[in-house]
Amino acid sequence: MLIFDTTLRDGEQSPGCSMNLEEKLQVALVLEEMGVDIIEAGFPIASKGDFDAVQAVAATVKAARVAGLARATRRDIDRAAEALKGAAAPRIHTFISTSPLHMKFKLQMEPEAVHQAVVDSVSYARNLCDDVEWSPEDGTRTEHDFLCRCVESAIKAGAGTINIPDTVGYTIPEEFHALIAMLKNRVPNIDKAVISVHCHNDLGLGVANSLAAVQAGARQVECTVNGIGERAGNAAMEEVVMALRTRHDAMPYVTGVKTEMITKASHLVSAITGFSVQPNKAIVGANAFAHESGIHQDGMLKNAETYEIMTPESVGLSRSKLVMGKHSGRHAFKSKLEELGFTLAENEIQGAFVRFKDLADAKKDVYDEDIIALVDDAVLRHNDRLRFVSLQVVCGSKGPQTAELEMEIDGRPCAAKAAGNGPVDATFAAISQLFPHEASLQLYQVHAVTQGTDAQAEVTVRLEEAGKTVNGQGADHDTLVASARAYINALNKLLVKREKTAPSVMSA
Ligand code: KIV
Ligand code: ZN
Repeated sequence: MLIFDTTLRDGEQSPGCSMNLEEKLQVALVLEEMGVDIIEAGFPIASKGDFDAVQAVAATVKAARVAGLARATRRDIDRAAEALKGAAAPRIHTFISTSPLHMKFKLQMEPEAVHQAVVDSVSYARNLCDDVEWSPEDGTRTEHDFLCRCVESAIKAGAGTINIPDTVGYTIPEEFHALIAMLKNRVPNIDKAVISVHCHNDLGLGVANSLAAVQAGARQVECTVNGIGERAGNAAMEEVVMALRTRHDAMPYVTGVKTEMITKASHLVSAITGFSVQPNKAIVGANAFAHESGIHQDGMLKNAETYEIMTPESVGLSRSKLVMGKHSGRHAFKSKLEELGFTLAENEIQGAFVRFKDLADAKKDVYDEDIIALVDDAVLRHNDRLRFVSLQVVCGSKGPQTAELEMEIDGRPCAAKAAGNGPVDATFAAISQLFPHEASLQLYQVHAVTQGTDAQAEVTVRLEEAGKTVNGQGADHDTLVASARAYINALNKLLVKREKTAPSVMSA
């Protein structure tokens, strides 16, 4: 069973979710290490940022195939081929809408012209790349005769993978199973292609529909880490993979994904995008392996299988979460990082170790989650132009609340003091004094990494400037310091965005 991860393309199309090149590379490397078969790295024609990211992922990733998305035009396909030039195993993924609704209103094309575009685009792409995937957008609302005709022609024109998207998350498992079975029965050359599925989650059925399709003969599933994606998202990779692993008795298909890396990938994607995972989310939610009720705890102590259908270790969670304290040395810290799956350069380890020591001084028990948050925080910002140095806040019921902030801007130290409507407002006002900008705050979110009053805070700040949104993250045992770090991180990302030209943003 092939796993096609589209976190970097469809996932990045989630409103408010954007990743810079460095972040995309980080995610791509984790996906490669996890054993994902195909990584869809972006939509090269959409912007220079997307093109650069696909090019960088293509040049870096060696063990996975790298795909770039293209509409059914020569310009799109040329751009995708250009971005994928350095890939060890490139794939052009081209698509066009085939449902009556999309053809009439979105494309304003007659079915004959759409069919011709399928043949032309796939043949054109195939001349540039040996591996071509074709998708009929809004496939689940496409008339069956027309769908069969387009699929047959796409295969004849050279597509090796036929991906059936449930673009609007409309189908239901039984219906989708029947659709895939229908294609297998009616398209004469279907055995020459791999059938893939791409399910959106508007009705919460993305994973169920994908698995129903697998049972009908699909052999590639398109999915994203944490299920991020357009609107309600895509089928969640961790759910698809763990369902196949856990219910191998009912679905005897094997993926190459190292499930022990699921937690790390999930955490990285949520730290980068600022999309935190709901506590009761399957597989990667904070409560997914927590047993609260006395009856459950009692059963678990007698035999874990009473209430646990998969082990925490199988998704990369360790049972003993208490890790270290202030007496732990650099060597122990380094081993812990390795155990958690981090491969860092020496200077990154040193930076993270300094932060760890500060944290261990302030907090008695340091847990795996603390270390993960701290490393994400330290590693995600080594190219930043704006840097947090220190913060002193006066707050409480007798205002005014004030913040004294020290920062470095392009290596130059600077300081400011500001008052505000509360300590967070005062902190953000101090940042704005030092680095004036027009961006508006869209989201401010605080999440406790572990339990207890000394837990580290992980803060997400979303800023919007001229239609561009970025998410910044910060972690610290002091919520206000974490807030300042998150705001500064978001400003750094805006600076990167400003430097890039994004002529048109489009979605698929
Ligand atoms: O949802 C969709 O239809 C897509 C296609 C481009 C595959 O993302
Ligand atoms: Zn999609």
